[in-house]
Amino acid sequence: MQASRWLIAWALPLFLAGCVPTRDLNPDEIARLDNLEELMWTLATIADPGFALAEDPPVGPASLESFLDMGTRVGLAAERLPQFSEQPGFLTLAEQLRVEALGVAAAARAEDLDEAARLSLQMRNTCSTCHDIYRY
Ligand code: HEC
Repeated sequence: MQASRWLIAWALPLFLAGCVPTRDLNPDEIARLDNLEELMWTLATIADPGFALAEDPPVGPASLESFLDMGTRVGLAAERLPQFSEQPGFLTLAEQLRVEALGVAAAARAEDLDEAARLSLQMRNTCSTCHDIYRY
């Protein structure tokens, strides 16, 4: 039972990774992103496995490390967003994403899995809110 859950947790992102453009960029590469579409695929590549984890958080150091990595890299990616718009609403949501992502990383560092999961799902709402308003 536990084993099959782990299998799904690992296999599903790998499967999905085959279907969408993946941008599993490292922090240096993220800091140089200046293309919105590429930035968004980077966000999806990094955040989606974290969202899946947040919906059904297994306990253990591996989850904490995943949340730490996701929060850190999404936070960096969020720092790249302001260059694409001067709209106050867009900038507010970009900053919200950054703060939530750093919150995920901080919770993971504090070994608070529930908080890391809660903030991850809150962060997902921020993605959706921005898409509802600004994606065309
Ligand atoms: C501040 C606003 C904003 C936030 C926050 C945001 N997005 Fe986006 N996203 C956009 C916009 C605008 C587009 C359309 C870009 C385009 O098509 O050029 C988009 C498009 C996308 C796309 C489609 C890319 C394409 O061009 O086909 C994906 C995938 C995506 N976002 C994932 C995410 C994820 C995951 C998050 C959260 C971790 C997120 N986004 C947060 C504004 C945002």
